[in-house]
Amino acid sequence: MKLYINNIHYESKANADETLLNVLRNELHLTGTKRGCDIGLCGTCTVLINGQVKRACKVKLSQLKETDKILTIEGMAANGKLHPIQEAFIEANAIQCGFCTPGMVLATKVLLDKNPKPTRDEIKRALQGNLCRCTGYQQIFDAVELVARKLNK
Ligand code: FES
Ligand code: FES
Repeated sequence: MKLYINNIHYESKANADETLLNVLRNELHLTGTKRGCDIGLCGTCTVLINGQVKRACKVKLSQLKETDKILTIEGMAANGKLHPIQEAFIEANAIQCGFCTPGMVLATKVLLDKNPKPTRDEIKRALQGNLCRCTGYQQIFDAVELVARKLNK
């Protein structure tokens, strides 16, 4: 089926019951989307579908339409420049091993698109489905506050 990912049209030859995560990583080589638990619990495979947070390990191709707009971490940088959310994660030291980072960045985008000035509690709630085994979360929440401040200047 045709897939529209990061404003690019792709053709997948996978079966309809294949997961989007397998297609992204194994067929299309978009490996920025990480496989953690593979059962919908950790958030490392987070992608956006029509602006909504989705777990790519839980989405089957059969659930997608060709017109769905899929955004993966590879689609966040533009014109050779990181997205401000990505820059803020670096600036706030919110990245250690980096395994959770793509999902965190995409979940942050959805939060800030809806709520440009989130409180700390709103940030925690928005990212509660994304697990990080390294940072203790505080630097991640700091990064979200940092980029929110910058974007609201
Ligand atoms: S790999 Fe999909 S939620 Fe963990
Ligand atoms: S930085 Fe390692 S899991 Fe979050």
